[in-house]
Amino acid sequence: MSQRPLNVGLVGGGKGAFIVQPHQKAIHFDGTRRVTAAALFPDPKVALEEAANWPYPIKGYGSYDEMIAANATLPADQKLDYILIVTPNFVHFDPAMKAMKAGIPVFCEKPLCMNLQEAEELVKTSRQLNIPFCVAHTYVGHWTSRLSRYIVRSGLLGDVRWVDSYYIQGWLATKLEATGQMQATWRTNPKLAGGSGCGGDIGTHALMQLRFITGLNVTDVAAHLEMFVEGRPIDDHFTVYCKLSNGGKALVRASQICIGKKNDLGILVAGTKGTLQWRQEDPESITICLPNQPDRIYYRGAVTPGDGFLPKDMPADLMAEPTIPSGHPEAFHDAFARLHRCFEADVRAWKAGKPFKCDGAKYANVEDGWMGLAFIEACIKSNAAKSAWTPMPKSI
Ligand SMILES: NC(=O)c1ccc[n+]([C@@H]2O[C@H](COP(=O)([O-])OP(=O)(O)OC[C@H]3O[C@@H](n4cnc5c(N)ncnc54)[C@H](O)[C@@H]3O)[C@@H](O)[C@H]2O)c1
Repeated sequence: MSQRPLNVGLVGGGKGAFIVQPHQKAIHFDGTRRVTAAALFPDPKVALEEAANWPYPIKGYGSYDEMIAANATLPADQKLDYILIVTPNFVHFDPAMKAMKAGIPVFCEKPLCMNLQEAEELVKTSRQLNIPFCVAHTYVGHWTSRLSRYIVRSGLLGDVRWVDSYYIQGWLATKLEATGQMQATWRTNPKLAGGSGCGGDIGTHALMQLRFITGLNVTDVAAHLEMFVEGRPIDDHFTVYCKLSNGGKALVRASQICIGKKNDLGILVAGTKGTLQWRQEDPESITICLPNQPDRIYYRGAVTPGDGFLPKDMPADLMAEPTIPSGHPEAFHDAFARLHRCFEADVRAWKAGKPFKCDGAKYANVEDGWMGLAFIEACIKSNAAKSAWTPMPKSI
């Protein structure tokens, strides 16, 4: 007999919210997870109204405190199996901590929280309670990110010398926050977004792609956090030269002021034997450049092991990840679904009292979230010291 779908509770997502929508579609992708409850808005009355108007039936709560407290009294088949936190950054730590303490696994948006101290507490609590925790770094969910990870980490490109990991947008090229636009308003307020605007919002995605694909960590940073739009109290342009744990170098850069740029996230990894290139706006393929050979383009779903570059024995878990035949395009929602699917496997194992992985190989975990905050704090320090080389905090 098939198992019941996992029950997911939303924190945030009412009144025109953005990222809840891709998530809730991804939750329902496989039929094995469903949204059953939500605390959608800070005002309890609006939260209940929004839940009543949700496109399918869910149990509405006036606040996440109520939702978490009520969970203890629900029958087993109605209890939440995990919560999804899709609130602005300043409302990540509190619901994540409370959920873990109530025995509910957490799927939290990035950046993990507001600062390194909060991140440390979240890591410690998740370790003490041994509870699954995912941080929603969307782009590691593309099959091509996973293929890139295999190619680079297995040494097919030799030693990594140089990485350029970037996320370039243009939507904050004017003072959009002055119009009251919801997403711009909290993202440009340091009290609600954290110490870095552009860096925290999208620089952390670029960092995560670098770490996920290469397996390397940043050891030192020389950072420029700049504000191009007048009167903005937080960076809208973020450029960081990095030393890597293998002695290589990298540029992690992000911008929100490049007019016309949409979600131009990408990575170039240059090794001693070849170069890999990947872009999320064209996420169905990666390009491999080898010396004195035509470029090789590898498409999702159409990879031939033993082709003279890829070995015959490709990792079984990579080749077996559910995906549709190539040429039927996959994109953003599929990447999100892959994260929820892999998190579901860990939540089910945990519920059954079995070992679960949560090791960062299939989705970013709480330690990856900590690393994002550690990077941001080192960048803020470096920027304040005229971009002097600054070490990353010691790993937790
Ligand atoms: N992974 C990605 O690709 C990606 C993309 C966009 C945003 N994000 C992250 O997702 C989070 C949300 O971003 P967004 O653009 O969707 O924001 P948004 O402003 O569109 O939505 C935030 C929602 O949270 C609600 N909210 C605020 N405080 C609340 C509270 N105390 N209780 C309940 N609800 C509350 C708001 O009313 C709103 O519904 C941010 O942390 C952001 O960095 C991630």
